[in-house]
Amino acid sequence: MRRVSLEYLEPGMKIGRTIYSSDGRPLLVAGMVLNSNYIQRLIDYGVGSVYIKDDMFDEIEEPPDLISEQTRLESVRTVKELFNSLENKKRINIQGVKKTVSNLIDEVLSNREILVNFTDIRNYDDYTFSHSVQVCVLSIITGISLGLDHIRLKDLATGALIHDIGKTRVDKELLNKPGDLTPEEFVEIKRHAEHGFEILRANQEISLLSAHIAYQHHERWDGNGYPRRLREQEIHIYSRIVAIADVFDALVADRPYRKAYSTSQAVSLMRRMAGSQFEPVILESFLANVAEFPIGTVVALSSGEIAVVVDSNREKPILPVVRVIFNKRLKPLSVVKEIDLTKDASVHVSRVLGEEEVAQLLKGIHSVKQVANGN
Ligand SMILES: [Fe+2]
Repeated sequence: MRRVSLEYLEPGMKIGRTIYSSDGRPLLVAGMVLNSNYIQRLIDYGVGSVYIKDDMFDEIEEPPDLISEQTRLESVRTVKELFNSLENKKRINIQGVKKTVSNLIDEVLSNREILVNFTDIRNYDDYTFSHSVQVCVLSIITGISLGLDHIRLKDLATGALIHDIGKTRVDKELLNKPGDLTPEEFVEIKRHAEHGFEILRANQEISLLSAHIAYQHHERWDGNGYPRRLREQEIHIYSRIVAIADVFDALVADRPYRKAYSTSQAVSLMRRMAGSQFEPVILESFLANVAEFPIGTVVALSSGEIAVVVDSNREKPILPVVRVIFNKRLKPLSVVKEIDLTKDASVHVSRVLGEEEVAQLLKGIHSVKQVANGN
């Protein structure tokens, strides 16, 4: 299975993971074969990419997720309802938030050995809600790595799930404005951090530390963040964790104005911000949980061969298990050759192939097969 941008979808491709609407209805179910109507449906729905199952990678196991599909759908719905209630000045359902948080913690705790291998497919309109859930999951797994106990995980996860709640007090048109913002508009958007703190502080059932996550999640380790330009230890550890999860998930998601970064691009970008935007120790704890080359990624090896990632190594996320699909002269391999990069120091991943390159290579295989079949 691999993630494919909408522009590279073609009739005949098979859906790898079911795509759901934000209210939990399946739009396209795993296994369905795409036709031009379905592709149009995806364009209309507003997703940037989907997971596709290729015939040649068919037997590669689907990477497990840190939470079940059902928990993800329920959690997204809870966040959406919370935001809607606040926008419509209705009573908010804090019990629902608490239940969601404890479900998420329980599931991530029981799946703590799993590496973050993919991001959920979300449409542009519901980005904030799906993003909130994923930031929560990424914060919990980082908190576990840092040895936080259950009570602390709860405060962390609650604040992470609703860190952007202050956006309910920012003009929607401004939040969705395409193109550049004026300095005044940017100031207005930045105020969501203070708004969030005010909303949560007023609620007796939310701990003050969770409220501070909403307040501090845009502060930077070097003191150049907002709203208060706090630095280093002045920023609470929960907020330092959420700041990292927030940026990572935003980078690997498709946005209306840009394509998603690959995980390895996001990881190297974030490593360059260690010590400036992010606390280095927490960043490394976070990255220890991320498969830098997710299963299904097509890579070039230092040997010149082309391979697909078929498994991750928990102890060394940077060294996956790969299956070679093309030799160095770019001829398809007829025998299966798998290399566990933790066990073979003579070869490493030199780069991740772009979608255009992968599409070209797979087309090549397809035509070779057609010739072989006499078509
Ligand atoms: Fe934010």
